[in-house]
Amino acid sequence: MALVNMRDMLYHAHRNGYAVGAFDLVSLEFLEGIMAAAERCSSPVILSLAESHFGYFDFELIMPAVEAAARRSPVPVAIHLDHGADLASAIRAINLGCNGVMVDASHETLPENIRRTRKVVDMAHACGVPVEGELGYVPGVEGEDAERHPGEIVYTTVEDARGYVEQTGVDFLAVSIGTVHGRMKGEPRLDQQRLEQINEALKIPLVIHGGTGLSDDQFKRLIAGGVAKINYYTALADAAATQVRNNARAKPGGSCTDLTEGIRNVISAEVERCMRVWGSVGRAPELLARCTPWTPVEHLIIYNTQGITEHDVDAMMAEGRRVLSAIPGVRKVATGKAVEEAAQFRYCWLVSFVHPAVIDSYREHPAHVAFADSVFRPVAGERISIDYQVTDKEHDIDRH
Ligand code: 13P
Repeated sequence: MALVNMRDMLYHAHRNGYAVGAFDLVSLEFLEGIMAAAERCSSPVILSLAESHFGYFDFELIMPAVEAAARRSPVPVAIHLDHGADLASAIRAINLGCNGVMVDASHETLPENIRRTRKVVDMAHACGVPVEGELGYVPGVEGEDAERHPGEIVYTTVEDARGYVEQTGVDFLAVSIGTVHGRMKGEPRLDQQRLEQINEALKIPLVIHGGTGLSDDQFKRLIAGGVAKINYYTALADAAATQVRNNARAKPGGSCTDLTEGIRNVISAEVERCMRVWGSVGRAPELLARCTPWTPVEHLIIYNTQGITEHDVDAMMAEGRRVLSAIPGVRKVATGKAVEEAAQFRYCWLVSFVHPAVIDSYREHPAHVAFADSVFRPVAGERISIDYQVTDKEHDIDRH
């Protein structure tokens, strides 16, 4: 399996002078096109899901496909929440399978940005998940003309960046040095000197938002200045839209599948072009050898109850499924009853954690403590609890 720790991925890129593309996807065609390019190019890749796009697809439904694409792939992949609005968004994304999250409070004052980001970092780090913060303001909206959202760029300053990273503990920083989200007329003017000073001061992987519209030379200079992750969407969306228009012209009256045919190929071609410019091509083997795989943990409890009815047990299980599944880092809470009534242990909990770090944070979480101490343990004196790091067929790819 090649779902890997995004922190390892981006620190490798930062140290070795290349950048990993974080491509926002809005459909299966995007997912397949991005993955096809990464695999063709033996390149690491970040599958990015922007909260602002959640109106176009069901986040909960697309995540199993995104995770399956990552896990079956021979190249290193991370799954990232792009522009998460708040703590609740970050928890939801982690529990659905994102192993990197961005919190975007860049429109807030600096103290408020720090306060909100710190909360997300505390929660995410307790789940083993790295966090990207943003400082300064990158105007525009992905997929739209920049002139339609003419906000003022607020440039990131070195001093603010230093304080922000120290006080929030973010793993990566998105900087504002002149790029704009969406489609721009002309080439943006980038403040390269500012970027280099921030990189020198922070020494952590930097992120560029608004990748569409930059020249190859600009990208190369950004990467030399410490950029290790490039967010990219509008050019992919435009390529897909052009393909649909061409299909419509070539086959007037064509079916839905006639119209969407070839989208994944044009996306794949544009992603490959980016990967070549950004220097991530061919990096998969060395990176795989250095990245920690993203391996979940199954928290298993087998138990017997004393002094309560079967009906009470069912009610307790339902309550546990509800309260425990909301804890950060919990993928799933399942309950079971032994098929053989005479089994040594009649009942079980199967709780899936996104990462081994959740073993401790789950144990200490107030919702777990309250449930375990007041509801479960008083009636389940006889129990065995074990955490297993699990491997399945999808993990069986040749890593070398
Ligand atoms: P573009 O749409 O300009 O490529 O920017 C994408 C982005 O920054 C997503 O966060």
